[in-house]
Amino acid sequence: SHTKEQIQALLLGLVAKDGEIKNTHGLAIGSTPVEQTDIIGVLKSLESREIIKYETITREGLELTAEGSDIADNGSYEARVFGAVPASGGISIPDLKTTLGAVAQFGQGRAIKNKWVKKDGADLVRATTSIVDESQNILKAIRADGSAAHADEKTIKELKKQKVVQSVKTVSYRVMKGAHFTTDVKKEETDVTEEMLKSGDWKTATFKKYNFNAEGVQPRSGSLHPLLKVREEYRQIFLELGFSEMPTANYVESSFWNFDALFQPQQHPARDAHDTFFLSDPATSDRFPKDYMERVRQVHSHGGYGSIGYGYDWKQADAEKLLLRTHTTAVSSYMLYKLAQDYKKTGVWKSVKWFSIDKVFRNETLDATHLAEFHQVEGVVAGKGLTLGDLIGTLHNFFKKLGIQKLRFKPAYNPYTEPSMEIFAWHDGLDRWVEIGNSGMFRPEMLLPMGLPEDVSVIAWGLSTERPTMIKCGIDNIRKLAGHKCDLAFLNRDPIARLDK
Ligand code: PHE
Repeated sequence: SHTKEQIQALLLGLVAKDGEIKNTHGLAIGSTPVEQTDIIGVLKSLESREIIKYETITREGLELTAEGSDIADNGSYEARVFGAVPASGGISIPDLKTTLGAVAQFGQGRAIKNKWVKKDGADLVRATTSIVDESQNILKAIRADGSAAHADEKTIKELKKQKVVQSVKTVSYRVMKGAHFTTDVKKEETDVTEEMLKSGDWKTATFKKYNFNAEGVQPRSGSLHPLLKVREEYRQIFLELGFSEMPTANYVESSFWNFDALFQPQQHPARDAHDTFFLSDPATSDRFPKDYMERVRQVHSHGGYGSIGYGYDWKQADAEKLLLRTHTTAVSSYMLYKLAQDYKKTGVWKSVKWFSIDKVFRNETLDATHLAEFHQVEGVVAGKGLTLGDLIGTLHNFFKKLGIQKLRFKPAYNPYTEPSMEIFAWHDGLDRWVEIGNSGMFRPEMLLPMGLPEDVSVIAWGLSTERPTMIKCGIDNIRKLAGHKCDLAFLNRDPIARLDK
């Protein structure tokens, strides 16, 4: 398109030459037409300085609909019927239908009425040797200039009713000289500058008038990160199922709650700095209950509660090491301990359904699907006599809410659950089973030292929010979702999260 300066020069040049522009319709620079929407911008700014005046000219014209265009290109339906009838012999009506489809039905009646074809028994035969397709000609003419003058009023009305043409309004302008008409438009200054003050140019400069009616720049609205949208959707599902949320605000935990309370031995590879981020300052904390700690030491070193334990020398120093939690199960273990204390105090057992959704940290090798921090979703149900069947049933209920119907389970290993199961879901788009989570029943070696009643069992499961969000947003690289390479515009454009139902 053209610049403002080009359009301004064109308009002012024409007004200077002819006294006015009768109609800006059809103006062009070189062979490129100038859009009326570009012209009005220039006119308004020139009018505000009284360089020109203008009037708006609106004109009702006609344009073809898609069907109208088809007729202009390929002939009216009645002409196509005529064309399909052989000059000698005829065509059966079913055959006509096979050649022309729906057009046969629409064109047949009018072709007979026009006396172009006639019925001969079960066939159609020609009633004339040649035809003039008036409708096609009219539509071609209308398409060329948009004028309604190519047919009488009745015909135009009929064409509109047939929805082959429709009215359009075109807007153009008449341009006349204003009180301060000039072709030498000085640039309008918007600010008094230091240079202007020094040189005295400010005395002769033309300043742009304030436009108090101008609309302000649309402020950009904030938007939730896709991960937060998915997190909100998960939260909603848990709340609908009657779960309450665990407090996950602390990213820093002691190894005790993250590992030891979960019966994860101190030699476990996950407790290595290669896998876990340990804190250096402060590096340790012993803020965990010492009587309970002694029971944890006992069960790790020597066993108890029907277990033989791991048989190693459990060290408090290792449990004191502070870390960025590697899973939200650290919060679950702390919450279950508190639940056991409440039970001990009151002697009343209350079943619980809990969930958490928050950040966890792992010292991962970063690649397209792994970051050093991600989000976990965790569900925990504690009740008397819960079984693996309850876990499987609960998982079915939970994933059904996410629109996932087909689940499969595979035996797995976690230090804190037995049995443990990886959860697989059938993914229609990928046409295969995808691993979506991990689950299990917490071990007695974990629950009994806490002080939970012996007949209480706890089922739990965990998944990430990143994987479903990536599938949801169609991104293949996690760095596009989180971190410094994340495109902020993408976050704004991203639609409201709806896990497919
Ligand atoms: N904590 C496990 C993980 O990080 C998930 C899990 C939670 C497994 C609860 C079993 C029970 O993968």
